[in-house]
Amino acid sequence: MVLKLVAIVQEEFLNKNYSINELKQIILSLRKEIDFHNINYHCYDDPLISDAQYDALVDKLVKLELLHPDLIDPNSPTQRVGSSPLPYFNQIEHEVPMLSLSNAFKDDDVVSFDARVKKLLYDNNLVSPKEDVCYFCDLKFDGLAINIRYEKGLLVSASTRGDGNVGEDVTSNIRTIKSVPLILHGVVPDILEVRGEVFMRHDDFERLNNHQRMNGDKLFMNTRNAAAGSLRNLDPRVTASRNLKFFAYGCGNIQNIFQEENFIISNYHSSVINWLSSIGFPVNKTYQEIVNSCSGMLNFYEKINNIRNSLPYDIDGVVYKVNSLVFQKTLGYSSRAPRFALAHKFSPEEAVTKLLSIDVQVGRTGAITPVARLDPVLISGANISSATLHNENEIIRKDLRIGDFVRIRRAGDVIPEVIEVVKELRSNVVSIFNMPHYCPICNSLLRRIDGESVTRCTGGLFCSAQLKQRLLHAVGRKALNIIGFGESLIYKLVDSNRIKSLADIYSLNIEDLLDIEKIGPKSANNIMESIDRSRSPKLDRFLFSLGIRHVGDSTANTIASKFISLDRIMNCSKEDFMELPDIGPKIASSIAIFFSEQQNIDLLDKMKKNGLNPESFEVNTEVLPSLEGKTFVLTGKLKRFSRDEIRDYITKNGGKVLNTISSNVNYLLVGDEPGSKVAKAQQFPNLIIINEEDFMYLVEQT
Ligand code: IVH
Repeated sequence: MVLKLVAIVQEEFLNKNYSINELKQIILSLRKEIDFHNINYHCYDDPLISDAQYDALVDKLVKLELLHPDLIDPNSPTQRVGSSPLPYFNQIEHEVPMLSLSNAFKDDDVVSFDARVKKLLYDNNLVSPKEDVCYFCDLKFDGLAINIRYEKGLLVSASTRGDGNVGEDVTSNIRTIKSVPLILHGVVPDILEVRGEVFMRHDDFERLNNHQRMNGDKLFMNTRNAAAGSLRNLDPRVTASRNLKFFAYGCGNIQNIFQEENFIISNYHSSVINWLSSIGFPVNKTYQEIVNSCSGMLNFYEKINNIRNSLPYDIDGVVYKVNSLVFQKTLGYSSRAPRFALAHKFSPEEAVTKLLSIDVQVGRTGAITPVARLDPVLISGANISSATLHNENEIIRKDLRIGDFVRIRRAGDVIPEVIEVVKELRSNVVSIFNMPHYCPICNSLLRRIDGESVTRCTGGLFCSAQLKQRLLHAVGRKALNIIGFGESLIYKLVDSNRIKSLADIYSLNIEDLLDIEKIGPKSANNIMESIDRSRSPKLDRFLFSLGIRHVGDSTANTIASKFISLDRIMNCSKEDFMELPDIGPKIASSIAIFFSEQQNIDLLDKMKKNGLNPESFEVNTEVLPSLEGKTFVLTGKLKRFSRDEIRDYITKNGGKVLNTISSNVNYLLVGDEPGSKVAKAQQFPNLIIINEEDFMYLVEQT
C-alpha cells in the first residue's frame, strides 16, 4: 500500500522534475498553509476551505514527507500526533517571570485603576492632567497560561506558568495543539516567547466528560480543570486527543529583533497583537477593542457580560491593558502583577442549598476551620458539596444553624463560601453548632486566644492532621517541589508512622514507598528521583517550605536575598528582619520565634543530616554574569538597596553608574519618588527605563 502511494506521488512530483530545493520549498509552504487553516478552523471557527480541500493538503504533505523522510521535521503539522509518555515533567525557568493580574470585582476598582494609571503617567510627565489614556480590552480566557518559545522561527519549548518563575516543560503536549504554530511565518526575531491561554471549548468538554462517564472515570469539574488536566498529562497522546485550543495575548522574552519588527511592536500592545497574528498566532480579534476612557472599559465589560453565555468557551472576566508600550514600561510592575493591566472579573455565581452538617478541619498551623457540608448543588459547572465557614465568629455573625438553607457563592478557583442564611426558608428543626473542645484528629485541647477569631489545636506536630498539612505545603510547587508526593502518599506515610517530621522525607528509601499499596516500582523510582532533586533547594523556596506563620513565598524571597544563607537567617533577631521592606513586627517576630524554638532547630539539624542543604543565595549572585559595559543612572529610593549598595552592586558586576542622562546611558533605574530624570530619559529612544524588579530580572538574565 505504502509502496503504491509512493509510486503515485513519485510520479506526480518526478514528472515535474523538481529539484530537491524546490521540493523543500513546496513542503515548507504546504506546512505553513496547513498551519494557517488549522488556526482558522480550530480557533476562529471560520474555515476558509472545505474539509476535503484541507485533507488534500495534508495528504499531499504526508506523501511528500514519505518520499523524503530526510525532510520530515518535528515541526511539521503531520507530527502532531503526540510522542511517547514522559516519566515526569522537567522544569523550565522563565526568562521573564509570568506574573498574574490584579483583579477588579466592581466598577469602582476600574475607576481607581484608571486614576492610578493617569496619576503615575502624569507624575512622569507623560500625560497632561485631562488627557485620556487608551486601553486595550480583551477577554479573560479561563484556561491556563503558557509560555511558548521559538528560536529562529521554530517552536523549541513550552512551559506552564508554575509559580511564575519556574514552570513545567509541556513542549511535547503543546506541539499537539493544532492552533499553536510550529513554524512562524516571515522574518521573526532570533528568540521569541509568546504567551497565551490554552483552553477547552464547551463541546469538547462535554465530549470528554461523556467519554469519562462511559469508562467509569472521574469527571472534570469545569473546562479549566479539563484543559489543565489534559495539558499537564504525561502522555502527549492523551493531550492530542483532547482538542485543546490556544489564543496568544502577549510576549515574554524577545531577542535580536529586527529593526522592522521592533518598530512595529515597540509602540502599542495592539500592534504586538496584530504582529503576532501576522506571523501565525491565533489571537481573539473579534472581541478586542481599544477604548480611551474608564467608561469605555466599563461598556466593554457590560457588552461582554451580555454575550458571554453565547461564547463556545469559558471566560471569567475581561482584561484591560494600557495600550502604549512606553506607558506600560513607565508604569512597570509590582511584585506580582503589572501596574498597567487589570482583570475585571465577572461576579461570582450563587446558589441556595441546604446546610446538612458542620465538620471541622485542622490546618497546617493547627487552625480549626468549620466546614459546611451541603446538599450538592451545581454552580458554574462544578458540583459543590462543601463550603468554608472561616471561623466560629462567622457562624455566630451569620446566625447559621444546621438544617438551614444557605446562599453560597463560588468565584473561580476560590473555595466556595456561605454568604447568608435564607431566613424565610428556616424550619423549626434546625440546631445550633457548638465548636468542639478537643481536636477531632489527635484529641488535644482546642484553644482560642482572647481577641483572636481562630481556634487552634494545641497538639503541634503530634497532631497528624497538622503534620500532613505541613508536609503537603512543604512538597508543593512553590516550596520543595517534590513531584508525585501527593496527598494520598503523605497520608499513608504519616498514618503508618513512617514520617514523623519534614526531615523524614529525606530518609525515605524505595522500599518504604513500595510498601505503600498501589505504588509500583516505576512511580516509586520517579518519586525517589524527585526527592533527590529537591535536596538542594533555593534558599527562598526552602524558607517557604518550612511553613512559618505569615511567611509567604514573596517574604521568603525578601529574607533569602538579604541574608543569603540559612545560618545567617537563623541568627537574626526580630529587629534584623524588621529592617527589610514589607516586614512588620508580626512577621518579624514569627520568623524569629520559629528559629529560636528548640524543636525547629532540631528539625533543621535532622534535615541537614538527612542530606538536605538549601543553596545559599550567594551562589546565585556569584554565577551571575556581569553587567559588563552597561551604564546606569539612578533616580528615587529603592527598596532592596541603599544608594551606596546599588552603586556597589552594579560596579561589582562590571556596570557603571553615571549621574546624568545622556545617549551613553543604557538604563535608568527608577525607585520611589523619582526625580525629573524620568522625563529626560524619555527623550532618548535607546534608553530603557526600569524599576527595581526589572533590574533584578535583568541581573538574573544577563
Ligand atoms: S495578560 C502579567 N490577557 O489571566 C500577566 N492574561 O490572572 C499578563 N489570562 O495568568 C497576562 N486571558 O493566564 C492576559 N487576555 C488575557 C488573558 C489573560 C486570560 C490569564 C493568564 C494569567 C491570568 C492572570
